[in-house]
Amino acid sequence: MENAKKRILSGIQPSGDLTLGSYLGAIRNWAALSDEYDCYYMLADLHTLTVRQVPAELRRHTLMQVAAYIACGLDPEKNVLFIQSHVPAHAQLGWVLDCYTMFGELSRMTQFKDKSAKNADNINAGLFTYPALMAADILLYQADLVPVGHDQKQHVEICRDIANRFNGLYGDTFKIPEPYIPPVGARVMSLTSPENKMSKSDKDPGGCVYMLEKPEDILRKFKKAVTDSDACVRFDPENKPGVSNLMQIYAAASGRSFAAIEAEFSGCGYGDFKKAVGEAVVELLRPIREETERLLADKAYLESVYRSGAERASRAAARTLAKVYKKVGLLAP
Ligand code: TRP
Repeated sequence: MENAKKRILSGIQPSGDLTLGSYLGAIRNWAALSDEYDCYYMLADLHTLTVRQVPAELRRHTLMQVAAYIACGLDPEKNVLFIQSHVPAHAQLGWVLDCYTMFGELSRMTQFKDKSAKNADNINAGLFTYPALMAADILLYQADLVPVGHDQKQHVEICRDIANRFNGLYGDTFKIPEPYIPPVGARVMSLTSPENKMSKSDKDPGGCVYMLEKPEDILRKFKKAVTDSDACVRFDPENKPGVSNLMQIYAAASGRSFAAIEAEFSGCGYGDFKKAVGEAVVELLRPIREETERLLADKAYLESVYRSGAERASRAAARTLAKVYKKVGLLAP
């Protein structure tokens, strides 16, 4: 009854090393969805080209991200794990959708405004049309749900607008997807500027913990994490963003409730608390790092995973692309 299951699609750009935020906020939740849903998880390598990449680094990050997906518990039999550029239908549908996406709506995207401010010397057309390619990623698979962080919600909304516009013109073609924001652990903030999301593009390397980072580096970053001056471990994101972020990370890593954490550290200084959070994260990530390293030594296996993922994804994508080409009037080859 494969087809009775709702379908999920999500992806992360292999533009750098994966972070603790991408694990707790995304990949860990993805793994939990694979029994209930028909899941497609991709590596959005085409999207990374909107910002200059070092070619050899992009290849290294891509392979590492395939290994990390598996090490995080995404079983390649139960989930379709694939690399976006290996399924040409993404670029093909992306072009068609470019022609059904308005200049005005793309100009209003907050990510475009942010990224063009950060890359003022390279405001390329891809950066601008990025949301149409992302819409193609989602619509090709007729996805019901798209797990994303808050920062990507606007992209799922424009995807729905594009799909509705197309369906309005040509009749039912695309399933209209819903964003799916997991209830817990969705937002890990920077350790040094806790009002911002933990991000691999953070200028301060101390703010971001990487999934494959060495234990001593992880412990050092938590030791230096920003807190506040009232020496009390209490969950209050408004007034105590640093401590609350650490509590969220600790809760996600240890399975403990906020109340239990407050009790555990009542009367202790932040030093003990930060040490405990760092240690919990080290233990959480240790098996993932070891498994990723083991998998990276087996290139033939990784290749077999992404090749079979691309084949499975291509079959699903080809059906939608053929429908779209026909509807818009392209002559069948
Ligand atoms: N834009 C997403 C990000 O930067 C990555 C992405 C590309 C994506 N295509 C997608 C996410 C499709 C969900 C669905 O995080």
